Amino acid sequence: MKLYLDTANVDEIRQAAQWGVISGVTTNPSLAAKENQDFNTILTSICELVDGPVSAEVISLEYEEMLKEARKLAGVHKNVVVKIPIVPEGMRAVKTLAAEGIKVNVTLVFSVNQALLAARAGAAYISPFLGRLDDIGHNGVELVRDIVDVIDLHDLDAEVIAASIRHTEHVPAVALAGSHIATLPFKVLKQMFKHPLTDLGIEAFLNDWKKADQSI
Ligand code: E4P
Repeated sequence: MKLYLDTANVDEIRQAAQWGVISGVTTNPSLAAKENQDFNTILTSICELVDGPVSAEVISLEYEEMLKEARKLAGVHKNVVVKIPIVPEGMRAVKTLAAEGIKVNVTLVFSVNQALLAARAGAAYISPFLGRLDDIGHNGVELVRDIVDVIDLHDLDAEVIAASIRHTEHVPAVALAGSHIATLPFKVLKQMFKHPLTDLGIEAFLNDWKKADQSI
């Protein structure tokens, strides 16, 4: 399972890219709105930092406008993936864009039916939002598992991005559910490194080394 960073914050992306663990980035209008910078500038910077798919979302809900925005976003960099919500006009746009070679990440997916529609329209990526499902008492991880199973069973081309990840426990759960990708907030990515036994182990190794008066 690949790890993407779910943020529009360039400093976070720079750090995570240096660690060598992320393969892409996802943004959304709410994440972009938190940054005090023009979105095209942000998108260009992200694409310079990460050599992998970078999702940027359209704002319009109308077919022609969506196409206009999508083509503009895709023109920023070859790695830009256009994010489109799972609505009928959106799937019409996915079909057109896919035929033009523009990759689309279909977002705000909360059911297997929506995922199937997205895959049939030609989505390259499908983003089920598991945290938001958990918030309303449903099982987000089960949805990810079901969508992956349907994609495999019917030999569909789309990759699943487990999105709306809220904590570290979500990560192994969606990996075991077969998700192709998980997109993580920076906080969750940092927490993934943490284990108390790692900290204790480092401390003991350094103390023993010092006691023995060794050098490298
Ligand atoms: C990613 O594609 C989504 O935009 C993001 O994961 C949504 O997360 P949230 O539910 O925490 O806002």
